[in-house]
Amino acid sequence: MKPDAANALIHHAYEPPAGFVSPQVGVFKASTVLFKNVAAMRARDWRTKAGYTYGLHGTPTTFILEERVAALEGGRHCMLVPSGLASIALVNQALLKPGDEILLPNNVYGPSRELARTELARFGVTHRLYDPLDARAFAGLLGERTRLVWLEAAGSVTMEFPDLRGIVQAARARGVMTAIDNTWGAGLAFDGFALGIDIVVQALTKFPSGGGDVLMGSVTTRDDALHERLKLTHMHLGLGVAGNDAEALLRSLPSLPLRYRAHDHTARELARWLQDRPEVARVLHPALQSCPGHEHWRDLCTDAAGLFSILLHERYAQAQVDAFVDGLRLFGIGYSWAGPRSLAVPYDLKAMRPDTPLAGHLVRFSIGLEEAASLRADLEQSLDRAFG
Ligand SMILES: Cc1ncc(COP(=O)(O)O)c(C=O)c1O
Repeated sequence: MKPDAANALIHHAYEPPAGFVSPQVGVFKASTVLFKNVAAMRARDWRTKAGYTYGLHGTPTTFILEERVAALEGGRHCMLVPSGLASIALVNQALLKPGDEILLPNNVYGPSRELARTELARFGVTHRLYDPLDARAFAGLLGERTRLVWLEAAGSVTMEFPDLRGIVQAARARGVMTAIDNTWGAGLAFDGFALGIDIVVQALTKFPSGGGDVLMGSVTTRDDALHERLKLTHMHLGLGVAGNDAEALLRSLPSLPLRYRAHDHTARELARWLQDRPEVARVLHPALQSCPGHEHWRDLCTDAAGLFSILLHERYAQAQVDAFVDGLRLFGIGYSWAGPRSLAVPYDLKAMRPDTPLAGHLVRFSIGLEEAASLRADLEQSLDRAFG
């Protein structure tokens, strides 16, 4: 082998000129970050974005994505984590200690409740569920041990839109911290910080990505001290995201408002159409009067995500419901939402929410970016075949 080949492939004198600008943000990937000298290494403060320390604590690519998400949410600071669920876990881990209690809405994202039931319980943190439509009853649950209140708007799968104003007001009156899972609103449908919420998390996996191919979460705050507390835990847990995933998010973000509107528009058209189908007992879409909490949605929002559920009449057999979902040609069967492809998932309502007054066979739809007429025709053919 040529004697200097290995060195030549690692060390070079050429420095690309500074000042390169293009519409897309560059992709920087690193574990190691190099310092000019030892003094620069010693002077570095990993808590600020004034420099770089180690790949886990950020690169130009992740710092820019954090700034954009913070701007989207109307916050001051943002931290990226590897998934939406990790953003929920980070907030819990940073703020809670043994003996504390958290309050979760009864329609909270299922894995968030499981996290409380299992991991948090092991660390001596208890949880109780509250009805997100009843702010008065919620206020009665706030106690000496209540450290954190989680919010979600709209709630997962059953789509009830919470009385956000009432709940946040009650929590603030008792000095209890609030955090919202803002994945449905995507930082567009309403302003969580303007409502007085302390922490806004989002599964960037959904609308901000929009591709169904990236997993990432964000934790956004306005308060400097709160951010620093979360950032410390973020560092202790070794949470970071990959440069290529951050790049994918940065490419998708500019089209977020357009995509959100398109998903919303088609979803509402289909939700309204489904209301008139004889097989459907109820449509659970926050923008429709038939959805519990519709008045709270109307108070805060004009937009809605491309997500809704239907309740098929109880008289049908589960096998017919499954045949309806299996018979859809354009809709995929799979979890998650906000990608280009429409999805459908049947849920066992009574097993998932034994407390709910809702009844029937629940199917949740994530409406993608296909033509509304084609999706309607697909729903129609499968309804006719499964229930006709
Ligand atoms: C409301 C909500 N929050 C959080 C998450 C978690 O996101 P991720 O899949 O990135 O962990 C999901 C995922 O489905 C969700 O629906």
